[in-house]
Amino acid sequence: MNWENQRCVLTGAAGGIGQAIAKTLAEKGVSLILVGRNSMKLHTLAEALPGNHDVICADLSCAKERVALVTKVAELGGLTMLVNNAGVSHLSLLEDTDSTTIESVIETNLLAPMLLTQALLPHLQQNRVTYIVNIGSAFGSIGFAGQSAYCASKFGLRGFTEALMRELADSNIRVSYLAPRATATAINSDVANAMNKALGNHVDTPETVAEHFVALLESAQNRGFIGFPERLFVKLNGAFPSLVDKALLKKLPIIKRFIAPTFQEKRL
Ligand SMILES: NC(=O)c1ccc[n+]([C@@H]2O[C@H](COP(=O)([O-])OP(=O)(O)OC[C@H]3O[C@@H](n4cnc5c(N)ncnc54)[C@H](OP(=O)(O)O)[C@@H]3O)[C@@H](O)[C@H]2O)c1
Repeated sequence: MNWENQRCVLTGAAGGIGQAIAKTLAEKGVSLILVGRNSMKLHTLAEALPGNHDVICADLSCAKERVALVTKVAELGGLTMLVNNAGVSHLSLLEDTDSTTIESVIETNLLAPMLLTQALLPHLQQNRVTYIVNIGSAFGSIGFAGQSAYCASKFGLRGFTEALMRELADSNIRVSYLAPRATATAINSDVANAMNKALGNHVDTPETVAEHFVALLESAQNRGFIGFPERLFVKLNGAFPSLVDKALLKKLPIIKRFIAPTFQEKRL
């Protein structure tokens, strides 16, 4: 892997995992195009990183802003690596989730990376070996109560990645999928953090995710699932989902205690 020759478009660059990946890549000599909605955060990050980097402000859920982003990337000389990292999450029972939230989660986590990838493909096809990395989630393989919209978006992203990986297997573009487990970033609300603690879920640092990101690209693998027992659960859920149904049923009262405080009252 020749990191110094890479020109990387990184979405969600100012977020927890985005910043850690940006720092790790910049230290390896990668030139970055940092993408997000908050100009000040992106410029502060660009200035703190070693090397020279560009910033593009864009709301990825807006078609017009995606088109402007693609034009700007071309003006800046194109790219050799696209990292679809931007994402949002939402924790609630489906019955308590409004339709705007469901649309926003699917648009940001699934539609936007699909359409951005499609729009940037001609630029990625121009270079010899180029990379697309989609940041998924353990919840892209394990359906989890209280996360129906998020799980649907990440299951979709995993399916999209796998299909594209196979579609481009005879091309110069290498497509990869990295699935973090719970990670200490702002995407997790206080309720989500308290629930993770009560469930005994391990929480990684964003730096751990960045290390796995580099290891995945330096390996011959195209898929990375971070952490044990999550990796085992992903495999188990694929092969014997009813076993995972049973294990998660035991955790349901804890989950519902956090996401639906009125749940106990409703049952009485
Ligand atoms: N943290 C976890 O527990 C965890 C676990 C598994 C997977 N992941 C995945 O890891 C990725 C990074 O998440 P994170 O944990 O680093 O969360 P984060 O700190 O909240 O960062 C998310 C980033 O996504 C950007 N973003 C959200 N909506 C956007 C939009 N419409 N247009 C442009 N940018 C947008 C935000 O940019 P602004 O600065 O513009 O708001 C933010 O910088 C996500 O795909 C997430 O699903 C996270």
